[in-house]
Amino acid sequence: MEKTPRRAPWHEEEEQGEVGIWKYAFGFSEMAVLKCAIELGIAEAIESHGSCPMTLSELSSALGCAPSALFRIMRFLVHRGMFKEELTAQGSLGYAETPLTRRLMKHGEYSMAALILLESSPVMLAPWHSLSASCVLANESSPFDVAHGEDLWRFAAANPGHSQLIDEAMACIARSTVRLMVQGCPEVFDGLSSLVDVGGGNGTTLQKLVKACPGIRGINFDLPHVVSVAEEFTGVEHVGGNLFKSVPKADAALLMSVLHDWGDDDCIDILKKCREAIPVDKGKVIIVEAVIEEGDQTDKLTDLRLGLDMIMMAHTTAGKERTLKEWGFVLGKAGFSRYTVKPLPAMPSVIEAFP
Ligand SMILES: C[S@@+](CC[C@H](N)C(=O)[O-])C[C@H]1O[C@@H](n2cnc3c(N)ncnc32)[C@H](O)[C@@H]1O
Repeated sequence: MEKTPRRAPWHEEEEQGEVGIWKYAFGFSEMAVLKCAIELGIAEAIESHGSCPMTLSELSSALGCAPSALFRIMRFLVHRGMFKEELTAQGSLGYAETPLTRRLMKHGEYSMAALILLESSPVMLAPWHSLSASCVLANESSPFDVAHGEDLWRFAAANPGHSQLIDEAMACIARSTVRLMVQGCPEVFDGLSSLVDVGGGNGTTLQKLVKACPGIRGINFDLPHVVSVAEEFTGVEHVGGNLFKSVPKADAALLMSVLHDWGDDDCIDILKKCREAIPVDKGKVIIVEAVIEEGDQTDKLTDLRLGLDMIMMAHTTAGKERTLKEWGFVLGKAGFSRYTVKPLPAMPSVIEAFP
């Protein structure tokens, strides 16, 4: 009997490299096709069709799309698990929802559509073209500044449409992070009668938190152009201001996805302002941010956290994701005496810092 020849290990490595590099070369296509699916409203159409799978011709007529183009988009999305194919009662092939489908819907508790639309917007894609230039010594400008001539927050203040996109994208992340915090470490909010969310965006975080912990009075603090258009929520007061000047007083200050937008010096200043806003004896600052693993990187979320760090590099002036040692450094410099870290089953951890 003829034996199948064994392939040399170098051959397998080469094959892996070949597949790997093509995946990187086409990496942008996943984001682009998801954006296309969100804009067309594919998830909403399939959901509203009910429990019966939706055939290509039903989906094309519901969306007003050419069947041949839609077939190729759906083949890509099915391959990546966004939808699945199932037989209809009549025996035709149709499209049905998967757990990922609801992430593509524009609304709802699990929607991540706004985040995908933000990151794939021309404004956020443009800075990536200057990433290498910004790494060159003596080039002080951040990629966002090179692309747009000002930093992200000034740009957002002058462009209400982009500001809204940022607020909605942050609200997507906030909804899932608050759910995980309330389930995983509810004790963080025990005994608080007031909480100021510093750089709280449109107030979604506090809306969810005060609903879960009705004893808390929420103060949503952000730049005036952000809070002036924020929806009103029961139990949440919107306050406009600048976190580098002063922060409204409360039992605790929350900083979620804010400190990673800034370099160490700014970060220390923000932490000092938060420290001034809380009682010295029983106050605390609750930081919800990624902690980058050092050494052997075994956590499967490390890949995402390092990706987030690249986003900070492209979109902020000096922002970055921090290791535990780097968190310890900025907290120490801001005068905090101790801190604890509670990991979440997600990108961020909860760091409680005490005066
Ligand atoms: C990445 S977003 C995080 C929003 C929110 N914490 C969340 O997680 O959904 C950062 C927020 O910081 C706000 N911000 C930036 N500079 C600020 C400043 N100088 N004073 C107050 N807020 C500021 C932005 O407007 C934005 O809402």
